[in-house]
Amino acid sequence: MKYVLSIETSCDDTSVAIVNEDRVVSCCLVASQDLVHSPFGGVVPEIASRNHTAQILPLIEQAMTQTQTQWSDLLGVAVTSRPGLVGSLIVGLMTAKTLSLAKGLPFLGVHHIEGHIMAPFLVDGTYQGPNFYDQDFLALVVSGGHTQLYHVEGFGHYQVLGQTIDDAAGEAFDKFAKMLGLPYPGGVEVDKRAALGDPRSFAFPKPLLHDDTYNFSFSGLKSAAQRLIEKMSSAEKSERLNDLCASYQATIVEVLSKKLDRALRATKVKNFVVSGGVSANSGLRKAVEEIAAHHHLNLALPPLRYCTDNAAMIGLAGLLRLQKGETSNQDLAPLPRAAL
Ligand code: KG4
Ligand code: ZN
Repeated sequence: MKYVLSIETSCDDTSVAIVNEDRVVSCCLVASQDLVHSPFGGVVPEIASRNHTAQILPLIEQAMTQTQTQWSDLLGVAVTSRPGLVGSLIVGLMTAKTLSLAKGLPFLGVHHIEGHIMAPFLVDGTYQGPNFYDQDFLALVVSGGHTQLYHVEGFGHYQVLGQTIDDAAGEAFDKFAKMLGLPYPGGVEVDKRAALGDPRSFAFPKPLLHDDTYNFSFSGLKSAAQRLIEKMSSAEKSERLNDLCASYQATIVEVLSKKLDRALRATKVKNFVVSGGVSANSGLRKAVEEIAAHHHLNLALPPLRYCTDNAAMIGLAGLLRLQKGETSNQDLAPLPRAAL
């Protein structure tokens, strides 16, 4: 059995994984930097790269030792090379290039979004992802930096059906949480409080809900929330916190799920995945599970550990490309922006 060692450092989480040829994750380690960035209410790029530098080698050592993997067991090293914070990407990329030279292994730069799209197909001790990645499927990728709906005609063939024209869905969650004084990253905090509130308490705008594209827009929603919150007293804000979170979350979930539903009906594609950090949201998970049940479609929804940034998803995307004979050269540069 051969393995891929994978590295993800595109934003603020340092992650290293080992994935085998059968898509099975032997180990996926994530060193979260949430506590470090939390006081700033968002990711500070310089601090993120410094932390990646400190974490990356110990994590690789731990992954190799814990799984008793030998360098000779590896097919190659996969690393996120685009898109992301350039100072963060460069740490993972330089590490992969150095390992490639030192150990005589091929390495491959992977697109972060391709990683997110592949996350639902991973397999581990408690999760068995399906294997329709080589067939036709739709993919809704919703994260802190991305909100895109793709038609995937088999692994590696992506057509954008729609995307956000301003903020990403995760960004809309994080900025709303910040307005309410909730800790960073805010999505999970809003999710927790939403479960205790009434989603019909406040009516927020639902941008582009009824237009005939598959595009999304969240900045108007964010501004409407800001205006509403500014008018509330501190006592009112804390008293209505759960209702505010429930209403705001329900609005985002409705826009995302209605557009996804419409795309599934229009394309008649039978399989779909929802991935990225926001796919951890309990309201969104429930809504897309209902869509799948209602139309009798196959849905692959990653377990929470593979929703947010992790190296296992990069390992799987890298594995499938390395198996096709693809490799990268030592002159590969990190790209802060790159279309899939
Ligand atoms: O995929 P990810 O880890 O990083 C990017 O590639 O951007 O996504 C992080 C985003 C953050 O905006 C975070 O607030 C959001 O995912 N997120 C959530 C939840 N868990 C994480 N948003 C809503 N509900 C959640 N439970
Ligand atoms: Zn991500």
